[in-house]
Amino acid sequence: MELKYLSEQQVNQLLDMKTCIGLMKDVFTAFAEGKMENKLRSVFPVEAGKIFGIMPAVVPTEDVCGAKLITVFHSNHEKGLPSHLGVVAVFSTEDGQLLGLCDGTAITAIRTGAVSAVATELLSRKDSNTMCLIGGGVQADMHLKAITLVRDIKKVTVWCPTLAESERFCESHKAQYPGIEFIPCENCEDAVKDADIINTVTPSPVPVLFGKWVKKGAHINAVGACSKTTRELDSECVAKAKLFCDNYDSCRNEAGDYLFPLNEGVIKESHLLGDLAEVISGKVETRTNEDDITIFESQGLACEDVVCAAWLLKQ
Ligand SMILES: NC(=O)c1ccc[n+]([C@@H]2O[C@H](COP(=O)([O-])OP(=O)(O)OC[C@H]3O[C@@H](n4cnc5c(N)ncnc54)[C@H](O)[C@@H]3O)[C@@H](O)[C@H]2O)c1
Repeated sequence: MELKYLSEQQVNQLLDMKTCIGLMKDVFTAFAEGKMENKLRSVFPVEAGKIFGIMPAVVPTEDVCGAKLITVFHSNHEKGLPSHLGVVAVFSTEDGQLLGLCDGTAITAIRTGAVSAVATELLSRKDSNTMCLIGGGVQADMHLKAITLVRDIKKVTVWCPTLAESERFCESHKAQYPGIEFIPCENCEDAVKDADIINTVTPSPVPVLFGKWVKKGAHINAVGACSKTTRELDSECVAKAKLFCDNYDSCRNEAGDYLFPLNEGVIKESHLLGDLAEVISGKVETRTNEDDITIFESQGLACEDVVCAAWLLKQ
C-alpha cells in the first residue's frame, strides 16, 4: 500500500485557521467528555539549545492513535530553516495500520494559534480590540491570524528583541490586515500597557512580560515557555491573574510560568483554576468582572496534532 504523505505546502493549503479553530474546540470538548487520551511528551536534549520531542495521543472519536515527532532547534533560523521541524503519524485503532504522515511544522504552527483563539474567545473580554505580540516569529504570525478571527482587533503592538524585527513584522503584515493599525515598539512595556490581549510567543528562558505592565481586564496567551526551566511571565503577573491551562498534567509537569511562582511560594496549587476542557464545558468559573486578568498557559498537546493530521488525511 502506498503511504500517504502531506507536505507543509499541502497542510497549509488544506487546513485554514478557521477550520482548525473548530477542530480544536472539538478536541477540548472531547476531553471534557472523557473521549480523548493524551500522554505527556518525552523530551530529549540533543545538544545545547536543541531538543527532540515525542508526543503520543489516542483519539477515540476518530478511531485513530498517533504521535508527533518534532525537533526544536532555535538556531535553525541562521540556516533559513524553521525552529520547529517534524512529522505527525496517524494509525487506525481498528487494525493498527499506518494511515499516513503529515508535515508537523505546519500543523504545529496552525494548531497553536488556533488553541489560543479558542482560549481567547472563552476568556478575554468581548470588547477586546487591542493586541500585543511579544515575539515576531511563526507564532506571532499565527496568533495574529487566529485571534483576529475571534475578536475585532483594531490595533496591534509588536515587540521583538530588535526594533528592526518588530518593524519588519509590522511592514510585512499591514497589507494583509488593512483594518488594523500596526505599531512596532522599541520598549516591551510600551507594547503591553494598553493591550487587551497579550501574546507571549518567544523562546525566552527569562520573563519578557511583567505583571506591573499589564492593564486591568487584559487576557494573556502564554505560549512560548514549554519547559520547567523557562518562563515568559514574572511571578507577579501570574499571581495577579486567573490562571488556566490547556491540560493539568502538562502544566504541572513542564510549565515554567506556573512552576516558578509555585516553587517561590508566590502562588499555591489552587491558583491554577482550570483546563481548557473545563472552561469550554462551563465546569469552572472564568472571568467574573471586567477588571479580571486572565492567563491561558499553553504547552501544546499531542492530541491537537493527531486530530489535525487525522482530519487532513481524510481530505
Ligand atoms: N505552546 C505551544 O503549543 C507551542 C507551539 C509552538 C511553539 N511554541 C513555542 O513558542 C515560541 C515561539 O515559537 P515560534 O515558532 O514563533 O519561534 P520563532 O523562532 O519563529 O520566533 C521566535 C521569536 O522570539 C524572538 N526571540 C528569540 N529569543 C528571544 C528572547 N530571548 N527574548 C525575547 N524574544 C526572543 C525572536 O526574535 C522571534 O521574534 C518557542 O519557544 C516555541 O517553542 C509553543
